[in-house]
Amino acid sequence: MAEPLSNGAAYQSVPESYVFPEQKRPGSSPCSAAAIPVVDLGGDDHGKIVEQIIDAGREFGFFQVVNHGVADEVMREMMSSAEEFFMLPTEEKMVHYSTDSKKLPRFHSSVGNDQEKVLYWRDCLKLGCYPFHQFRQQWPEKPAGLRAALEAYTTAVRAVALRLLQLTAAGLGINEGHFEGELSAGPVLMNVNHYVPCPDPSLTLGLAPHCDPNLVTLLMENGVSGLQVLHGGGWVDVEPLPGALIVNFGHQMEVISNGGVRSGEHRVVTNARAARTSVATFVMPEMCCAVAPAPELVPDGEPPLSRPYTYEEFVGVYTSETGDRAAVLAHFQNKH
Ligand code: OGA
Ligand code: NI
Repeated sequence: MAEPLSNGAAYQSVPESYVFPEQKRPGSSPCSAAAIPVVDLGGDDHGKIVEQIIDAGREFGFFQVVNHGVADEVMREMMSSAEEFFMLPTEEKMVHYSTDSKKLPRFHSSVGNDQEKVLYWRDCLKLGCYPFHQFRQQWPEKPAGLRAALEAYTTAVRAVALRLLQLTAAGLGINEGHFEGELSAGPVLMNVNHYVPCPDPSLTLGLAPHCDPNLVTLLMENGVSGLQVLHGGGWVDVEPLPGALIVNFGHQMEVISNGGVRSGEHRVVTNARAARTSVATFVMPEMCCAVAPAPELVPDGEPPLSRPYTYEEFVGVYTSETGDRAAVLAHFQNKH
């Protein structure tokens, strides 16, 4: 069992078990100076918003949204509760510690998707959020404001996600309601991630390169950067504007859009200066939901890029392939 990194210690050197082999270290792949697009959801030019979402989705699978309607106060309360959780004494956090990846809530450390078993420089509190009646009773009681913050933030951020799904459907040219119902009615889950300062960021990764398995993810961070997106073979730093939410499409969106928009591959690098906290909210299909490319998006005479499957099957493959993008997609691609 990996000890949590947020145990009050200041690390003077990187423990051996966190040191990646040279070819997997963050500096071994190129950086890119590109920037992920900003979409202003407060504007009244619907056509422009829709176009910007699709352009960003096609190119990056990532964008940031401003004027999204989540109140500053709600975002602040969520972030400060998240930061406070990781400042709790270790034994208080360990109440929620588990090595069972299915348990919710679950506090865990350092697990990644790397078969070499090098540890990732991350602690995480994974939560089931919505529907509230299913999860609320198990939410951590400490810090004191966490439960109220979770309810307010989940409500608001889920509403933004559902609006983004409508806008994305409109932009793809399919029925605006395409993502409503079981495609987006699975439980809303959350990763509250925490990356303590790392004495040598060149040796470690906070999170391995991966695509999210779900439909759409909305992320807020505490102003400390570290998230990077793969674009044209290089890693782009994600630097959100103050108050922005970062949006990324997951695998299901790439499949349903028949490749019209991509699920952006991303990773997290560490830094030596400051602790980074991020809150990633995942909107996903119900487990039994059948997922397939929207027929309108499949060109005449061509097979759809993916075969149909259930979300449950997808999640099983994602887990057994430890998130590796190409390996996961290979299971579902139609042969040409
Ligand atoms: C995730 C994730 C990024 C971050 O939790 O899936 O990609 O910035 N997090 O912590
Ligand atoms: Ni992710």
